[in-house]
Amino acid sequence: MGPRSAASLPRGPGPRRPLLLAVLPLLLLLLLPPPPGSDAGAGRPPHLVFVLADDLGWNDVGFHGSEIHTPHLDALAAAGVLLDNYYTQPLCTPSRSQLLTGRYQIHTGLQHQIIWPCQPSCIPLDEKLLPQLLKEAGYATHMVGKWHLGMYRKECLPTRRGFDTYFGYLLGSEDYYSHERCTLINALNVTRCALDFRDDEEVATGYKNMYSTNVFTERATTLITNHPPEKPLFLYLALQSVHEPLQVPKEYLKPYDFIQDKNRHYYAGMVSLMDEAVGTVTTALKSRGLWNNTVFIFSTDNGGQTLAGGNNWPLRGRKWSLWEGGVRGVGFVAGPLLKRRGVKNRELIHISDWLPTLVKLAGGSTEGTKPLDGFDVWKTISEGSPSPRVELLHNIDPNFVDVSPW
Ligand SMILES: *[C@@H]1O[C@H](CO)[C@@H](O)[C@H](O)[C@H]1NC(C)=O
Ligand SMILES: *[C@@H]1O[C@H](CO)[C@@H](O)[C@H](O)[C@H]1NC(C)=O
Repeated sequence: MGPRSAASLPRGPGPRRPLLLAVLPLLLLLLLPPPPGSDAGAGRPPHLVFVLADDLGWNDVGFHGSEIHTPHLDALAAAGVLLDNYYTQPLCTPSRSQLLTGRYQIHTGLQHQIIWPCQPSCIPLDEKLLPQLLKEAGYATHMVGKWHLGMYRKECLPTRRGFDTYFGYLLGSEDYYSHERCTLINALNVTRCALDFRDDEEVATGYKNMYSTNVFTERATTLITNHPPEKPLFLYLALQSVHEPLQVPKEYLKPYDFIQDKNRHYYAGMVSLMDEAVGTVTTALKSRGLWNNTVFIFSTDNGGQTLAGGNNWPLRGRKWSLWEGGVRGVGFVAGPLLKRRGVKNRELIHISDWLPTLVKLAGGSTEGTKPLDGFDVWKTISEGSPSPRVELLHNIDPNFVDVSPW
């Protein structure tokens, strides 16, 4: 039914006119968009919520058999698609750059370690990032948490790279409570500390002594609560958890008093708090009526740091290393838009695949990007069809220093 069938009705005065008048409102109703929150992906672009954990290891989640309890993550993974053959880069900046560009870091000059605090570097400004592409597709784009993709010029900041709003810290790590980062200035041989916390582009001073993951969760739920459901949402929540320093409110340590290793004890508490945070975010999505049309992705940025509480058993190696423990990542996709749920996916998937996958889901276009290394893997994830990816490039870096003792 459409306007054409109305036009084909006999014109002019006559006995049929009342019928036309009766049918017209019905036709208009069919042409109007459905009221907010009333559909489950009825042709409308899905909300995309991407939660990135920091340094979370293979053996640090309940669904991989860890001694750490992660009931919220376990439930989401069990009802979604568990990614079992999913690879990240072994380090923060490279992984995050590939997530947002869909390109290997040999193309962006970010192949050597990370962006260090005083290093004048960021993702090249001529790269088109995921939030920009989603914005072009009509999305509201929000980022909360760790950026670590450069900040030496204003043009490098998240709000200049496609995010409508940003709240978080720009470097790779810092104190969870003071939000300060200290670094040795080699040229002066002095250590300097500075507050690294931003609300959009302004330095945010009002969050001292508040645990970052709690602050970020609160910002994420506020964004969700205030989000108009009819507008597609992209929320990139890049949590500080569970990167060192090992800090967590005391009450989270109690359930793990049986763990002798001090680092692991603290780390376990941090993972639990993060698990709770993810539960809070998904609950907010459900209360707001967004969950029905949400694709929810959870991923680590690299393997666990075994020198700071992480554990990748039975995988060898750790963060920084190219062993499986460094690059095979914890990840799953959840939400009612998946065609097959409650399955373990063994197809090869890489962190660079998210950009083409999400832009396609959004009904957007990747035409404005430079040549991509990522593949659209939605059918692989949602339907279990073979991955279009047959290989992946970990890195090419003649200057790489392997600091792994293994
Ligand atoms: C949306 O989700 C709620 C539960 O969160 C469910 O009760 C409702 O039936 C869903 N609506 C549709 C249209 O799928
Ligand atoms: C740097 O300063 C420390 C004291 O803070 C000193 O022990 C060290 O020798 C200095 N290093 C250099 C290279 O000057």
